[in-house]
Amino acid sequence: MTKRILLIIGGGIAAYKSLFLIRELAKRGIDSRVIITRGGTEFVTPLSAGALSGDKVYTDLWNLTDEAEMGHIELSRQADLIVVAPATANMLAQAAHGVAGDLATTTLLATDKRVLFAPAMNVRMWEAASTQRNVEQLKQDGALFIGPDAGAMACGEFGDGRMAEPNIIADRIEAALLGDMTLDGLRAPKSLKGKRALITAGPTREPIDPVRYLSNQSSGKQGYAIAQALADLGAEVTLVSGPVDLPAPLGVTRIMVETALDMLAACEDSLPSDIFVSVAAVADWRPAKTTAQKTKKPKNGPPPLELIENPDILKTLCEHEKRPELVIGFAAETHDVIAQARAKRLRKTCDWIVANDVSGDVMGGNENAMILVTQDGEECWPRMEKIHAARKLAHSIANALGSSN
Ligand code: C5P
Repeated sequence: MTKRILLIIGGGIAAYKSLFLIRELAKRGIDSRVIITRGGTEFVTPLSAGALSGDKVYTDLWNLTDEAEMGHIELSRQADLIVVAPATANMLAQAAHGVAGDLATTTLLATDKRVLFAPAMNVRMWEAASTQRNVEQLKQDGALFIGPDAGAMACGEFGDGRMAEPNIIADRIEAALLGDMTLDGLRAPKSLKGKRALITAGPTREPIDPVRYLSNQSSGKQGYAIAQALADLGAEVTLVSGPVDLPAPLGVTRIMVETALDMLAACEDSLPSDIFVSVAAVADWRPAKTTAQKTKKPKNGPPPLELIENPDILKTLCEHEKRPELVIGFAAETHDVIAQARAKRLRKTCDWIVANDVSGDVMGGNENAMILVTQDGEECWPRMEKIHAARKLAHSIANALGSSN
């Protein structure tokens, strides 16, 4: 079923990014219905938002035609989630105190849906004690937040205050919508508060000389999504990442490494941990010798490249004296996926294996069809966005180890 958000565009320069957000969500099959505040219309027009959303855009509480067609209560009733982007300091203050002076704030007061705020403002306004108090209050009331990010701002200052990028907001919206689906159907997940989780992600890079290396196609997306999903359930997450082009997930401690040996050392240093999820595509082999200088092209034929085996990080942690309570390995296979995953679970002595068929476009892509192999059997999950698959795995982990909310 198509999901729909109610997007409230507030009055800030970041409002233009919300137009990109509408487009990003449409690509992901999520419809947007839009309210623009009076301040918001100074930055973007209802015409552009409407052209992108393919729907009427609402601006005025006192427009009798709008109220007759679609009252403010109905607007929120028809949405699965309300997103306020950009959320100005003024909007946060009004929402925190239940002030309902216009269509946007009246809708926020009248809704029983979850609200995700993407704040954007000058760094001093963001850091002001009153804004921070309002954010705290809204969080206590059950609101979700994304950003703001640090960076250069339109006002010429630098610091926390930039609205999160549209694709990152879209990821959070998808995650929040999945959370809602959980409330509708599946058992609500338990909390992972007080649990430590260690995740490896991405490829490793094994140097041949200062400019050449052996590596693989892993993008790190699945591991990063799992780190985020576990942090969202309250776990204290350490992500040991090979070289990838992804921002660190929010609320996660990230350690960047290059080689398999570095990755193993960083993992051992991060123990003890309750959970270990080994998602990284660790190179099985590394060059026996790494030269300090760039090797010259040999005159006759290809250069010899002697390889030696890398340590198996997953197996090492399974056999470690500080073995985490729940160890989960990944198995990327192109054939006999379940049989190979079962055998791998026993060989590596891990608790669960997440198997995926990588004969298609899984590596580097945004979707994954996973099979969870445990001591009790297999669960086949349909093909879904990697972020959804990550949530599902995090829920399974919480059901196995977490405490009731
Ligand atoms: O044996 P295979 O490489 O197929 O096993 C995949 C699983 O083992 C993944 O969880 C991967 O992260 C982990 N692995 C590892 N260290 C290696 C090779 C694989 O941790 N050297």
